[in-house]
Amino acid sequence: MHTLVHSPSATTNMLDRVLSSRRVTSHLDDAETDASADDSKTKKQNLSLLASNYLSRLSHFCICPTACLLICLLLAVILITSLAFHSRSFVCVSDPGSRAGFFGLEGLESDFGSLGVPWCRSKHGKTVQWTSKDLLKGLEEFVSIYETRPIKNNIYGMGFDHSFGLWFIAKWLKPVLMIESGVFKGHSTWVLRQAMPDTPIISLSPRHPEKYLKKGPAYVDGNCTYLAGKDFVDFGSVDWKSMMKKHGITDLSRVLIFFDDHQNELKRVKQALDAGFRHLVFEDNYDTGTGDHYSLRQICDQSYIRGGGHSCFRDSDEARIRLKRKLFWEKAVGIDELCGPNEAWWGVGGWMRDDFNHSNKPISYAEHFQNSRFIESILDVYWELPPVAGPSLTHQTRYDPARATSPIVEDGRYGLFQQLGLSRLDRSVFNGYTQMVYLEISEQES
Ligand SMILES: C[S@@+](CC[C@H](N)C(=O)[O-])C[C@H]1O[C@@H](n2cnc3c(N)ncnc32)[C@H](O)[C@@H]1O
Repeated sequence: MHTLVHSPSATTNMLDRVLSSRRVTSHLDDAETDASADDSKTKKQNLSLLASNYLSRLSHFCICPTACLLICLLLAVILITSLAFHSRSFVCVSDPGSRAGFFGLEGLESDFGSLGVPWCRSKHGKTVQWTSKDLLKGLEEFVSIYETRPIKNNIYGMGFDHSFGLWFIAKWLKPVLMIESGVFKGHSTWVLRQAMPDTPIISLSPRHPEKYLKKGPAYVDGNCTYLAGKDFVDFGSVDWKSMMKKHGITDLSRVLIFFDDHQNELKRVKQALDAGFRHLVFEDNYDTGTGDHYSLRQICDQSYIRGGGHSCFRDSDEARIRLKRKLFWEKAVGIDELCGPNEAWWGVGGWMRDDFNHSNKPISYAEHFQNSRFIESILDVYWELPPVAGPSLTHQTRYDPARATSPIVEDGRYGLFQQLGLSRLDRSVFNGYTQMVYLEISEQES
């Protein structure tokens, strides 16, 4: 284990890294500019240019009107067929997004946030200072790192979007210690290690990742303290004070905690707060009406938040839109699933789920509302990772774009998608987005 050295200005430095405005100029800026002249558009333009050239040349030869009409018809058929083969929106009519476009339901694939994107208000309205350019630059670097991952098939664990998000956040914050709860085969440990090659990790999980090595690929880190297997202790029961002392940590604001353990996130925030930790990432920030534990997004889904609150009225626009979207997106929920007895829409049909839904209890709206007020009272920053790319590019069929923020690489920008190396990845890795969230807890008075 490394000996940790801390400067007195460590907290300020870390906060500065999060909050100081940072503009990155890189060759990606050029790439972006190039890609904004999107190649699919370029192709279409070239094709119409070609067509008009042909037609103007043809006019010189058209003496017989019937022959001329026939030739024109033939050219039109060739042009339409050619467009169909060159345009990406026509290539895969079998995926839900494209099907939507094909049947004239345009907008279903690219209407990000149209059903509202709830978020948690922070006390002072602060936000992260990394920009979409920083995210693009990060993506450009991360794709080739991701390709070297030891666990290629991480079903039930993180896919590409969240792996990128965790790597990016850890790399940006530069913590002196990283703690993860919920390890599985060790993919997220590997991601943290790629972001911070020399930083110690503490990993908590009931099953040690080395157990998985017997069956196939897994990752066990050499600079990680495992509270796993027979040494497992739940995050809420660890004596963090003595653990930090053991690791030489004096400044808790330089520690990053990553939760992927499917526990009630309100419970985890309170435990982290009690221990004095300030930088938290939750992998599965489930949307209202979905998931196996009470999430930050569910907690903050309130009618006073733009994009928050729901109506259980079955003859409402929301009900109609939700019904339609269920046809296209696996995680979309209809009003019947969203609303439990007595029109309880908060949590999952009025339930506060915990521990992979092994334990749950009904909560009243008043209690739910109080929970959101509590979160607001201790929060400096709430930031949801956007999906890496739009569904027409990734072919993801799971999350409903209507409940997500706009992606880093927007639909239609295939040039950029390709340039970043994202087109090299198997499309199954894009199917796990659940609004990973980064929280910065306010400094508490001691
Ligand atoms: C979804 S998996 C984690 C996936 C992993 N982070 C990855 O990206 O591959 C959830 C893990 O949480 C573990 N788990 C269950 N209860 C836990 C608890 N109370 N504390 C920590 N981990 C727990 C499970 O055994 C499982 O390994």
